[in-house]
Amino acid sequence: MSLPDQIPLARPSLGEREEELVLEVLRSGRLSLGPMLERFEREFASWLGVADAVAVSSGTTGLHLGVRAQGWGPGDEVLTSPFSFIASANCLLYEGATPEFCDVDPVTLNLDPEMVEAAVGESTAGILPVDILGYPADMPRFQGIAAGRGLGLLEDSCEALGAVDSEGVKVGARGVTATFAFYANKQLATGEGGIVIPADNKAAEDMRSERNQGRAPNMGWVDHDRIGFNYRLTDIQAAIGIAQLERADQLLADRARVAGLYSERLGQSGAAPAGDGDSAGMVLPCSDRGSERRSWFIYAIQVPRGADRDAVVADLAQRGIQAKAYMPALHLLEPYKERFGYRAGQFPVAEDASSRLLALPFFPGMSEAQVERCCEALEEALQGSWV
Ligand SMILES: Cc1ncc(COP(=O)(O)O)c(C=O)c1O
Repeated sequence: MSLPDQIPLARPSLGEREEELVLEVLRSGRLSLGPMLERFEREFASWLGVADAVAVSSGTTGLHLGVRAQGWGPGDEVLTSPFSFIASANCLLYEGATPEFCDVDPVTLNLDPEMVEAAVGESTAGILPVDILGYPADMPRFQGIAAGRGLGLLEDSCEALGAVDSEGVKVGARGVTATFAFYANKQLATGEGGIVIPADNKAAEDMRSERNQGRAPNMGWVDHDRIGFNYRLTDIQAAIGIAQLERADQLLADRARVAGLYSERLGQSGAAPAGDGDSAGMVLPCSDRGSERRSWFIYAIQVPRGADRDAVVADLAQRGIQAKAYMPALHLLEPYKERFGYRAGQFPVAEDASSRLLALPFFPGMSEAQVERCCEALEEALQGSWV
């Protein structure tokens, strides 16, 4: 019996331009802290429309430097989302600050500003919203709350390159510290990598020093004026980043095209719009509201209540289709549950989404026929998945 063609969950779009620029680095002999790194930072800042951008080795290390820029530490509580990738909460623990989770909005699955406003207390030092699955967090509201209560603000935009917020501002361009990530499945992929948008020149200077073992730009290799880290992005990664950036708009449009194909096809088969709490059936990702524009990171539906998601994943795998459960409810993961005493039922919206979300194959080059095959297979897998 021949195996069906495999459709992977994600696949980076890499071409001749990436090869050309990587070759340029190899031939230059400048593998780290070279001109390609500076060029990537300059071109990224220009694409986003901001004054500066500090490239780092990953989204996680960028978040860590962002937390340090806020000055959050022991005794500081930071309000953040329990429906996220673990790094958005871990980065606070690295500095001894405490993540305080608030539930998410049932439509966007982003941190709910009402919950945040109600949770601000004496020990609250800041807010860390996450643009989850590429949907822009309500940054105008969070900026208002932060300004009114004297709180710091750090945006985790690792999944949201190219998204636009409710005021029409590109995510990362509000003057708030924001972090993007470039892991292989991201909208812009360098394999590993990230970039931080600093709030001002002083923050940029501190981050450049801290990513490079605490060296000011004019210092020698063994001179250090502070404690730093090795959070450097290599010039080869920067070269891939430049090539990806040159066609970022096209890559984002391709992702939106594939998402549109999925939503149209599954909507025709009766899937409900996001936030339809009454729906017992499949629920689609939310569509853009007002001026908000999602940047499509993954395409994830919510399986019908009562369906066995693991069985669906296994069934799809048999058919050559890679699917994955996304994202965890952070407060129920062992390191958080144990240390902070969280329990099931505390954040019902995040828990419900976390138990039902299923990411389907999703990448810029996906064809209509591949989307159709995934949708058909999903429907068949769901029929046999009731528990
Ligand atoms: C929301 C969010 N935050 C942080 C990160 C961490 O980025 P990295 O894997 O580049 O460290 C990710 C990565 O997937 C993410 O999705």
